[in-house]
Amino acid sequence: MIKRNTGFSNLTAGYLFPEIARRRREYAASHPEAKIISLGIGNTTEPLSKHIAQAMSDYALGLATPEGYSGYGDEQGNTELRQRIAEVFYPNMADASEVFISDGAKCDIARIQTLFGRDVKVAVQDPAYPVYVDGSVVVGAAGANNGTGYEGITYLPCTEDNDFFPDLSKVEKDTLIYFCSPNNPTGATATREQLQKLVDFANANGCIIIYDAAYFAFIRDPSLPKTIFEIPGAKTCAIEVNSFSKPVGFTGVRLGWSIVPNELKFADGSSVNKDWNRVMTTLFNGASNIVQAGGLAALDEQGLKDMKEEVDYYLENGKLIKATLDGENFKKLGVQAYFTGNGPYVWAKFPGKKSWEVFDAILDKCHVVTTPGSGFGPAGESFIRFSSFGHRADIEEACTRLSKLEL
Ligand code: MLT
Repeated sequence: MIKRNTGFSNLTAGYLFPEIARRRREYAASHPEAKIISLGIGNTTEPLSKHIAQAMSDYALGLATPEGYSGYGDEQGNTELRQRIAEVFYPNMADASEVFISDGAKCDIARIQTLFGRDVKVAVQDPAYPVYVDGSVVVGAAGANNGTGYEGITYLPCTEDNDFFPDLSKVEKDTLIYFCSPNNPTGATATREQLQKLVDFANANGCIIIYDAAYFAFIRDPSLPKTIFEIPGAKTCAIEVNSFSKPVGFTGVRLGWSIVPNELKFADGSSVNKDWNRVMTTLFNGASNIVQAGGLAALDEQGLKDMKEEVDYYLENGKLIKATLDGENFKKLGVQAYFTGNGPYVWAKFPGKKSWEVFDAILDKCHVVTTPGSGFGPAGESFIRFSSFGHRADIEEACTRLSKLEL
């Protein structure tokens, strides 16, 4: 019989979000009266902009006509959309040949892991979006979990003690470094100086940065870089993955992109962009043409205005959650909450408590689902992540319930 991929047997837990959903279902089954509110997975809740929906609907109806029909498109994405992304988000930083359209950042991260294979060393911010680590384990770039983390992964603690920016001196030469800013889960958003440090380190040490910018649209502080390509030197050491999910509510619609610079090279001098093109043409068949029409609408004047309003709505939710966690009740519990106003997550430390224990208590006492910090890595222990994605009325109700929490 065929042997199981050892990557799967090395994974010590199920993927974080299905595990949370399982606990929620179990709780709901035994407490049918509970009106559960989710501040857990970062899932958008507000309706699509009519402007975007109209563009997708028009395109879909066009497909039912001889003039409007099209079959397979370019695997790299619609040329107009590639150009528009380059113009709107990367003026003088990237051109269309470096933009690859996809079905989302998570899927691109998984495909990127096939690009580097099993022999690459990996470093992650700790805590980190679980796909970086779990995906590395699946492809064999990381081994078994020895109780403190997976072998082959360098964990870079990002805590209140280092202002959530890692000590890079622990990273070995020729390492693939995953870096997310605005960060999921801590919300920390790297400054220009911090990113310059990261880029200089990568260039000096043969590292490649996988820069996850999926929350770029939440950055409101104009001094903070929205893309790593604002940083001199980034084009020789970084790939950026990005997404329409959070800015325009495409979590279900599915659309993302990656920027793979033409200057980026492997050790043998070959082009990363060319291999990425091979990955996309071989393992992917292009994003939905209907959805790409929606992506184009999201990037015109009306679309960008709607994007800002939608993100502002969630940022306002974040402020309400932060104010609740700063309240008297949480002070008594010794809770310290972090919210930068440049990302959708509020990250809160419950000193002396285990994350899952607090998760269970909040679910049981407030009927609110959160995300346990330990699910993002060892340094997330004792933290809880609160997502600001939700209808305002639900956020307000969740805040009222949370303000009465006793542990
Ligand atoms: C999260 O909640 O961390 C993310 O929204 C999940 C995802 O984007 O895959």
